[in-house]
Amino acid sequence: MIKLGIIFGGRSREYKVSLMSATSVINAVDRDRYEVVMIGITEEGEWLLYDGPVDKIEDGSWQDIAKEALANDPEKYRLTNLKEHIDFALPILHGPYGEDGTIQGLFEMMDIPYGGCGVTSSALAMDKIFAKTIFGHAGLPQGPYVAVMLEELLHHQDEVVNKIEEEILYPVFVKPSNMGSSVGISKVYDRDELIKALKLASTYDRRIIVEQGIECREIEVAILGNDYPEASAVGEIIPAAEFYDYRSKYCDEGRTKLCIPADIPPKIAEEVRDIAIKAYTLLDCCGFARVDFFLEKETEKIYINEINTIPGFTRFSMFPLLWQHSGLVYPDLIERIVMLGYERYNVKNRR
Ligand SMILES: Nc1ncnc2c1ncn2[C@@H]1O[C@H](COP(=O)(O)OP(=O)(O)O)[C@@H](O)[C@H]1O
Ligand SMILES: [Mg+2]
Repeated sequence: MIKLGIIFGGRSREYKVSLMSATSVINAVDRDRYEVVMIGITEEGEWLLYDGPVDKIEDGSWQDIAKEALANDPEKYRLTNLKEHIDFALPILHGPYGEDGTIQGLFEMMDIPYGGCGVTSSALAMDKIFAKTIFGHAGLPQGPYVAVMLEELLHHQDEVVNKIEEEILYPVFVKPSNMGSSVGISKVYDRDELIKALKLASTYDRRIIVEQGIECREIEVAILGNDYPEASAVGEIIPAAEFYDYRSKYCDEGRTKLCIPADIPPKIAEEVRDIAIKAYTLLDCCGFARVDFFLEKETEKIYINEINTIPGFTRFSMFPLLWQHSGLVYPDLIERIVMLGYERYNVKNRR
């Protein structure tokens, strides 16, 4: 039996999202093939072995149960060498310290095979400025943007704001370069709002990206694979809010609609799938990822938005639903991700 370490929680603003995704994954794993080892990371960064009820993960109470178990039986619950506890790591962590290459680096150091993208691709996909720079070099279609460093903002605010106003048109989206789940993102319509939004984004990251707002539909594609990545059907997100913000992603109880397959012309769907695979390959992604696009309403032009290397993974999330539509059901999807992780590990280590 493979000891499958499912790692959830984490030190990011997306802690709660991870709990939801991980609960679905843990419930779906084939217990005939895998022994699931649950490892939770608290918001403070403490790693805890957890063998309590799966339904106590989502509401966060797993932490108390795990801490109590550790206090009562430190011999059994102390996490010393990760490699002694698990054969394979499946990080179901969203955002910084999970999706950004940091934990992947830890697995590499410890020689533990793991699911999903490696260190570099995770880090590049997480950083919107780096990803856009690479997409731009390769000629992938994307909207105009301006990159801002905190240092410039602190000392030359007027120049920074002038430059943004010269290069792109309102409304603009202001985002921390490294984040996710729409945390720290604002849509703004004038200079005053822009300054406030820059300050807000700068509390999350020292690199900020300001993008021209596109009047668009939101299109997403799921990718699976290492050297020969495959694209799923194309889906559309129809957010209930003005844009797909944190609330509409996780709190609006079904008002955001997922439309699979997206109601778009086949030619556009093919183009989207093609660009998604190009983008995935460009960042050297492995295992799986979701590639997100904007489809401009007026022109039907496609713009790549971003790659999520650990996309939302609940049973109701776009990523598994897209694969389900393409014929791969949830438990088999997890199996594929583990197999791809082993394949990559074996190639890397020439085994
Ligand atoms: N340039 C843009 N034009 C139009 N809408 C945008 C733009 N950038 C972001 N948005 C909206 O904000 C949401 C979150 O932005 P995104 O860059 O995907 O950040 P995150 O990494 O947090 O998901 C998008 O899903 C979309 O609804
Ligand atoms: Mg997004």
